[in-house]
Amino acid sequence: MDGVTIVGHPMIQHKVTLLRDKHTSVSLFRSLVREIAMLLCYEVTRELPTTTIQVETPLAVTDAIEIAGKKLVIVPILRAGLALADGMLDLLPSARVAHLGLYRDHETLEAIEYYFKAPEDIAERLVIVVDPMLATGHSAIAAIDRLKGAGVTNLRFVCLLAARPGAEALRAAHPDVPIWAAAMDEKLNEKGYIVPGLGDAGDRTFGTR
Ligand code: URA
Repeated sequence: MDGVTIVGHPMIQHKVTLLRDKHTSVSLFRSLVREIAMLLCYEVTRELPTTTIQVETPLAVTDAIEIAGKKLVIVPILRAGLALADGMLDLLPSARVAHLGLYRDHETLEAIEYYFKAPEDIAERLVIVVDPMLATGHSAIAAIDRLKGAGVTNLRFVCLLAARPGAEALRAAHPDVPIWAAAMDEKLNEKGYIVPGLGDAGDRTFGTR
């Protein structure tokens, strides 16, 4: 799908298989989410602009590359996005974090905002929204609507599993926002869960079921 990158690396695919397994423990699930997030972060930041600086090694002064521009912002959609944000921060320890609380109305499946706290200059930064499950796309679309409303123009979206209908909906609503996912599943059930999926990512991360 145009604008959607499925990161087919064997390490990621192996870890996704463990995530899908309903027998995987809460502690392993949480570590796997964090590890996959770190690997996805490597891919999503592949094209970041760089600049050349001078650095003094113990032997000589040399030109060296560093990432250009302001630190980027990771935006976990609460609460399931938190473990993904931890993995991204393992690789980008200086990134800023904006928290966005959305809950899903179980009748309409619409996303309702209950919390938003972001760096004041978020509009000047590259923003990566993280949510493990891109299911109907309602939360992702609402999150990106909210961030664009705050002036953000440079956005990327990262998830573990994308459902094809959700990825299509997000691409249609926000064609300027590229998506990275570890895997794509074809369908949703009548409750909006990804099938085969991995179940409720928040419950499996935090052991609330
Ligand atoms: N959210 C989840 O946690 N799982 C799904 O399958 C869909 C939405």
